[in-house]
Amino acid sequence: MQSMISIDEVVGRTKLLPLLSQSSMRLMEIIKDDRHTLADIIRIVSLDAPLTARLLMVVNAPAFSQSGQVNSLSRAVAVLGEKVVTGIALAMCAPFIYENDLSGYAGERGLLWKHCMRAAIASREVSRYGAREINPDVAFTSGILHDIGKAVISEYLSDMTGLLLEEVQTQKAADFLDAERQALGFDHTVLGEAVARHWQLPAPYPQVVRFHHEPMLAPEAFRHEVFCAHLGDLIAMMGGTGTGADTLLYRLDEHFEEYFDFPPLWLEATLLTVSDEYEKTKAAFYGE
Ligand SMILES: [Fe+2]
Ligand SMILES: [Fe+2]
Repeated sequence: MQSMISIDEVVGRTKLLPLLSQSSMRLMEIIKDDRHTLADIIRIVSLDAPLTARLLMVVNAPAFSQSGQVNSLSRAVAVLGEKVVTGIALAMCAPFIYENDLSGYAGERGLLWKHCMRAAIASREVSRYGAREINPDVAFTSGILHDIGKAVISEYLSDMTGLLLEEVQTQKAADFLDAERQALGFDHTVLGEAVARHWQLPAPYPQVVRFHHEPMLAPEAFRHEVFCAHLGDLIAMMGGTGTGADTLLYRLDEHFEEYFDFPPLWLEATLLTVSDEYEKTKAAFYGE
């Protein structure tokens, strides 16, 4: 059931997507650098008026407002945390990605952002157990970005969701990724990498996006970060925030334990923390 669309054509279309805002790019760059301070973050955000306004709105939403009215940007950034700030910046400047209706996955509008936010929190949580030291901020941003290709591929899949599901259920396809490949000749990770390259995202983000379902294929240098996103993605789905029809239809790479040093009951603890923080963030962002 191979379709007629060529990968070159679809990748070509990703080049027409708007670029990210200057502030999101700078935020992603700076949180990778261990020497950055909160003042650096505040300096970047303060030059972006719509982002400043959004952060003040979010920080004053009932879920966050334990400490009374927040009207200064520096306080808002301190309360929300720089990772949430980066997530909000991305969601704002790439609504064509995060607000896409994901019809190809039978998922509603906004679901991708919710899934990515939950996966980001989970990736950061598992990064603390990394067999090698992993920057938790990079793990968080990796989670935010991992599925950007879904927004692009979704429209090509829209008449095929049922068929793809059947392929997985009848084991004609190994998982949903394989079903995408069989149907289109490419999958959301390849398109996601094209979007990441178009946005000129620094390493390890293009690699994370490309290999988050097949971490062992990632270049060795980025494999630890890729495994965080891989696991974070599955934990987000286990917690009930997937992207639609494909939820939980992906495989866990059996090598994952080689890349982490897990204490007993880490999964239970992680699921609880992630759920708690995700609900809080979602409530603030959507006012739900
Ligand atoms: Fe994915
Ligand atoms: Fe995902």
